[in-house]
Amino acid sequence: MNPIMKSLSVALGERDPETRLHSDRVIGLSRELGAHIELSSAELEILGLAACLHDIGKIGIPDRILLKPGCFAPDERETMRSHALIGERIVKSIDDERSGMLSGIVRHHHENYDGSGYPDGLRGTDIPLFARIISLADNYDAMATTRPYHPGRPHREIIDILAGSDGEKFDPDLLHAFCHIIERSPLRTA
Ligand SMILES: [Fe+2]
Repeated sequence: MNPIMKSLSVALGERDPETRLHSDRVIGLSRELGAHIELSSAELEILGLAACLHDIGKIGIPDRILLKPGCFAPDERETMRSHALIGERIVKSIDDERSGMLSGIVRHHHENYDGSGYPDGLRGTDIPLFARIISLADNYDAMATTRPYHPGRPHREIIDILAGSDGEKFDPDLLHAFCHIIERSPLRTA
């Protein structure tokens, strides 16, 4: 890994250990899904880096919002959402030939397949493939993990949510593949 990227990951852990641990699990789930759809080893490397750095922009979010145990007011939600753009700027500034591609993935990791996401409301395959993969891993782990504002959900309930009313948010082919790999994944929750 580019040493600057490694340092950024450590910095995120110093700022917010939970986000660092979450990012580590998102790396694992993203790479499992990427391997299942037969990405090359070079592609898996980039996917892992993007997963590692997807929430790096949270470094720029004030503690009163980043660590808030509850629902956000509309202005707080907007501030929290800005982590995608902050992260894009941070990653774009890294002196690495992959930083342009990586920063685009970081920018778009909260886009939804149906166009309801942010920051750009991209739809379908206009969303970078690796951002679509990370979105699935990110959502699964967020629901599986106990946070100050919600308990961790059981595996079956998460799958029902991903495939049910939230199903249109995700790439249907990737969702199908994810539902397959997660059953045997060491990162599957109980
Ligand atoms: Fe995020």
